[in-house]
Amino acid sequence: KHSGAVRKYSQCSRNAKMSLEEAKQFAAHRAVDEYVKKDCIFGVGSGSTVVYAVQRLAERVETEKLKVTCIPTSFQAKQLIIKHKLTLGELETHPVIDVTIDGADEVDADMTLIKGGGGCLLQEKIVASCSKKLIVIADYTKDSVKLGDRYKKGIPIEVVPMAYVPIQNKIQALYGGEVKLRKAVAKAGPVVTDNGNFILDWIFTNQDLRWDKVNSIIKMIPGVVETGLFVNMCEKAYFGQPEGSVIER
Ligand code: 5RP
Repeated sequence: KHSGAVRKYSQCSRNAKMSLEEAKQFAAHRAVDEYVKKDCIFGVGSGSTVVYAVQRLAERVETEKLKVTCIPTSFQAKQLIIKHKLTLGELETHPVIDVTIDGADEVDADMTLIKGGGGCLLQEKIVASCSKKLIVIADYTKDSVKLGDRYKKGIPIEVVPMAYVPIQNKIQALYGGEVKLRKAVAKAGPVVTDNGNFILDWIFTNQDLRWDKVNSIIKMIPGVVETGLFVNMCEKAYFGQPEGSVIER
C-alpha cells in the first residue's frame, strides 16, 4: 500500500507529466494552425511532440477538406501518416516541401537546434533542407540560451558502423568531452538507425563553440553521415508552457 507521502509524490509527478504532454500539445496545435492554411506539401518530423501535430493536421484535413501531402522524416513518421489516413508522399516526387513541423531536443538563443534524441536526425535534416520553412514545436524544457544548458545527453552524430571508434577518437581529440555509442539498454548492442547506421552521442563540455564550424568540421570526418546540429535552419519555434500559453521565438 502507498503511504500518504508516496501517493502525494506520485500524484505530483503524474501532474508534471500531464502538463509536459499538454505543453507539447499546445505548441503542436498552434504551429499546425498557423502554418497549414491551404493545400500544401508538409514535412512530418519525428518524436512525441509531432504526434500531436499529426493528430491536429488529420482533424483539419478532415473538416476543412484540405489536400495535404505528407513527407515523413522516419519510419515512425511514416507509420503516423498511414495511421491517420493522410496522403503519403516522398522526396522523389515532392522535392520541395512548403513547411516541415518537427520537434527538437534543445533550441538555443540563436535558434540552433540539437536534434536526434530519437535517432532520426539524418532524414530530419534532409527533409528540413528541402523545406521552405522549418518550424519547431516543443515543451518549455527545450527552450535554452546555450546548447547544453538543458539537454544533457549531448549532440547525436550518425555514423557508418565500421567507423564508430575512429570517429569517437577524432571528435574527442578535436573538442574533448565524451563520445558514447548509443545503446537502447546498457550492455546491449548499439541502436541502429532507419538508415542502418549507429549513433554517437557527444557530451561536449565547451558551450561556447561556433556550432556552424563544429558542424562542418565533424561532417568532414570520413564515416560521419550527419550531425544533430541544425544551424540556421529553423525559422520559428513554439514552446508550450505548463499553464497553457505558447511562447514563440
Ligand atoms: C528525433 C528528434 C525529435 O524531434 C526530438 O528528439 C524531440 O522529441 P520529442 O518531441 O519526443 O521531445 O529529433 O530524432
